[in-house]
Amino acid sequence: MSSSKVILSGMRPTGFLHLGNYLGALQNWLELQEKHRCFFFVADWHALTTEYEAPGRLKENINEMVLDWLSSGIDPERSVIFRQSDVKEHAELYLLFSMFTPISWLERCPTFKEQIRELEGRELYTHGFLGYPLLQAADILIYRAEAVPVGEDQAPHVEMTREVARRFNHLYRRIFPEPETMLNEYPLVSGLDGRKMSKSYDNFISLSDEPDSIRQKVKMMVTDPGRVRKTDRGNPEVCTVYSFHRLTGGEDIDRVAGECREAERGCVHCKSLLAQNIIEFLAPVYSRRQELLKQEGYVESVLARGAEKARSAASRTLEEVKGAMGL
Ligand code: TRP
Ligand code: SF4
Repeated sequence: MSSSKVILSGMRPTGFLHLGNYLGALQNWLELQEKHRCFFFVADWHALTTEYEAPGRLKENINEMVLDWLSSGIDPERSVIFRQSDVKEHAELYLLFSMFTPISWLERCPTFKEQIRELEGRELYTHGFLGYPLLQAADILIYRAEAVPVGEDQAPHVEMTREVARRFNHLYRRIFPEPETMLNEYPLVSGLDGRKMSKSYDNFISLSDEPDSIRQKVKMMVTDPGRVRKTDRGNPEVCTVYSFHRLTGGEDIDRVAGECREAERGCVHCKSLLAQNIIEFLAPVYSRRQELLKQEGYVESVLARGAEKARSAASRTLEEVKGAMGL
C-alpha cells in the first residue's frame, strides 16, 4: 500500500492490554500511523451491547486501555484517538442505516449466531446486540475509511460494512468507499500455561506489568513436560518459554534451542534470560507510561481533542448523507 489511506480501527474497552494484544494489533497500528490517516477509537457503545447489565468498570477500562495505546506509541499528534460515545454522529448514521438494512443481514451474521450460543444464559436477543455490526459499519463509513485492520473474527463485520456501503451508494448516491479488511498478522502468542494468551484464562503478561511481576510470571511458565531433570535433553518446540524467546529473543533464539536440545541449558536459567528479554522488549512502553502517568488527566485530554477532530470529519459525511436521504 503506497499512497496514504484513511484507516480506522477500534477496540472494545477491556482494560489494560496484554502482550498478545500488543503483538497482534497494536504493533500493526503503530506501523500504519507512520503512513496513513488513522482513526483509532474505543468502542464503548459496543461494550454495552453485551455488558449492559453490569457496565461496572467501563470508565476505568477505557482509561487503562487508552493509556496502553499511548504508552505503546500510538501518537495523538498523528492519529485521531477518541471514544465512540463522544461522537454522536456515529449513532445518527447508524439510525439512518437501519432504515434500509434488511434484518436478515444481521440475523445471519456468524458472530451473532455464535455469541448467542456461547453466552448462553445471557439475554442477548436485544435490538442493540442484533445491530452490533451495523453500528460498526457506521463507525467505519462515517470517516469513509478505506481499510480496517482487524482480527479474523471481525472480518464478517467489515464484509457487512461493504454491503451497507453498496446499498447506500445504489439507493441514493455514491458517498462511501467499500473498505477493505486488513487482517492483523497474529503471531500466535501463547499464555503462561501454553494455551492462547487471554484475559479470561488469567495467563497473560500485561503491557503494564512491573519488571518484578514479569519475572514472577515467567517463573510460572510451563516448559517441555518431557524434560524432568536438567540432564534430560529438551524439545524447545513444545516449550512455552521457547515460544516466547522466539517473539522477543533476537540472537538468543538459536543458542537457546541448541543448548536445550543438548541438555546444556537449565530451565531456570533459560527463564531468567527470557524475563530479561521481555523486560527489555517492553522497556520503551514502560518508560513512556511512567512519563504519561505524571501528567494528570492526560488520557482525558487526548480523548477530548481526538473527539473534536473526529466530530469534524464525521459531521461532514453526515451532512452529505442527510442530503442524499432527503433530510
Ligand atoms: N467489534 C470490534 C471488536 O470487538 C470493535 C469495533 C467496533 C471495531 N467498531 C469497529 C473494529 C470498527 C474496527 C472498526 O474488536
Ligand atoms: Fe524450555 Fe528453555 Fe527448559 Fe528448553 S531449557 S525446556 S527451551 S525452558
